[in-house]
Amino acid sequence: MTRVFVFTNHKGGVGKSTSATNTALGIAGMLRRAGAPNARVLLIDTDSQAHATLVTTGTKDYGVDNSLYTVLMADRQNAAQTLLNCIVQSTWDADLHILPASPMLEGAERELMGIAGAPYRLADPLSRIINRYAAVVIDTRPSFSLMTEMGLIAATDAIVPVEPRYLETVGLMSVIGKINDIREGWRQPNLRVSGILVTKMNTRIRGHNHLLDELKTHSVLGKLLLGVVPANEAVSYAHQNHQSVFNYDPKAPASKAYAQFVGKLVQRIAKCGA
Ligand SMILES: Nc1ncnc2c1ncn2[C@@H]1O[C@H](COP(=O)(O)OP(=O)(O)OP(=O)(O)O)[C@@H](O)[C@H]1O
Ligand SMILES: [Mg+2]
Repeated sequence: MTRVFVFTNHKGGVGKSTSATNTALGIAGMLRRAGAPNARVLLIDTDSQAHATLVTTGTKDYGVDNSLYTVLMADRQNAAQTLLNCIVQSTWDADLHILPASPMLEGAERELMGIAGAPYRLADPLSRIINRYAAVVIDTRPSFSLMTEMGLIAATDAIVPVEPRYLETVGLMSVIGKINDIREGWRQPNLRVSGILVTKMNTRIRGHNHLLDELKTHSVLGKLLLGVVPANEAVSYAHQNHQSVFNYDPKAPASKAYAQFVGKLVQRIAKCGA
């Protein structure tokens, strides 16, 4: 079974797209270095802002004919082939493939609202082509909208990026509760909350250390902590250059932290026999 990692949090700007893009690239690179026969990773951008699409392909000029929007609007029988037709190779790496977002996704939510089976319009075609990939990574928008629901329904592992200032237990528990609701409500027994990734950590800020300590000792959340990425200007510079942080500066603290995090996900992929 191919693992599908969805990065989700309804809070904006917490590092979902940064984490999804760098993780997708990191998985492909790590699998290749380990000699895996298939190191291909598919990154699906479900956010109409298309930030993940822009940094990994150099453009966000995708629309009615060549994006996730096209897949969502396709006839059921043609949706898997449409999905394959819309996938592009990332400028970052030949093994990283992108299903681009489009500003039209904003309208797609309204167009699909109330249509039977709408929430499965990503999961269904994806399940028919997924064997081509060693892993899939999904970036979501900062809300629990229909698009985010589609991403969660298509996923096996939900990862919640969170800034240390948003670490309050209540907020995090509500995100986790929402993911569990989707598992129960849409009968997706494979979907589980796989981990929390703390982003933009600054150890010089006392509040950050305090919140991280609280998270580590929390009875439920502590077990879910999968990584801590430091606040690091290399991330912003990499974004501006449409580069991954690994490529921009492999020795940057954020690169090292993402590499560690990716290592944990690759272990899970290996357990699935990919
Ligand atoms: N570790 C980091 N250090 C410094 N800046 C970071 C780090 N991670 C992310 N950023 C910056 O924070 C901003 C938000 O990051 P990102 O776009 O990944 O968040 P997001 O959760 O996807 O946002 P949105 O909710 O709008 O989709 C970006 O400008 C990014 O460059
Ligand atoms: Mg984003």
